[in-house]
Amino acid sequence: MTHFIAPSLLAADFAYLHRDIELINGSDADWLHIDVMDGIFVPIVSFGQVLMPFINRSSSKPLDVHLMIEQPERYVEQFVDLGASVVSVHYEATKHLHRTIKLIKSKGAQAGVALNPHTPVELLHDILEDIDLVVIMSVNPGFGGQKFIYQTLPKIKRLKEMIININSNAKIEIDGGVSLANAEELLKAGADVLVAGSSVFKAEDPVATITALKSIEKLKTY
Ligand code: DX5
Ligand code: ZN
Repeated sequence: MTHFIAPSLLAADFAYLHRDIELINGSDADWLHIDVMDGIFVPIVSFGQVLMPFINRSSSKPLDVHLMIEQPERYVEQFVDLGASVVSVHYEATKHLHRTIKLIKSKGAQAGVALNPHTPVELLHDILEDIDLVVIMSVNPGFGGQKFIYQTLPKIKRLKEMIININSNAKIEIDGGVSLANAEELLKAGADVLVAGSSVFKAEDPVATITALKSIEKLKTY
């Protein structure tokens, strides 16, 4: 499978939101990444249910919703109803992860689990076969534009081995500080989906940057 690119809307210019979503529609992006933050799990409140119908109406790309909220099980069904194709919840934020995953899947969406930088991938051992996506946070969640944490690379490699060993179809998504400078290394380590916020929206030519990220050849084939 060729890798996916998921630009993060958090880095868009919200005064020109429709223009920026149109820009992604016309690009080689595969998903549109939506960062929902509650001000408790992470320090700031971003956006949520009120904006989703507008984003869903405007976007032609599947919506990849990243819930950075405590007890996400309270909201996962709503987000699928509002148009999410993929819903990821944080391992650190839900007590009954298996139940939450089943809830997302029962609504017909793909289910993802996100891990903070300090959370080892091995903790997913007994849930890996049930999930479609693992989001490895390569920054501490809460803000766009942060520096990539390099300890992420061995985590990607270890997770890829776990996925191969159980013959799972789960994708590995890397979120935070991804740019043209490190994308190739991430893909070689085993990444399948690259989230890119600032490196796309702050680029002189966002569409060309997405094309460049999408065109990187993965040298290692799994
Ligand atoms: C961080 C968010 C990321 C963020 C990525 O809490 O989950 O998705 O938007 O932004 P960049 O690519 O700028 O690090
Ligand atoms: Zn995110």
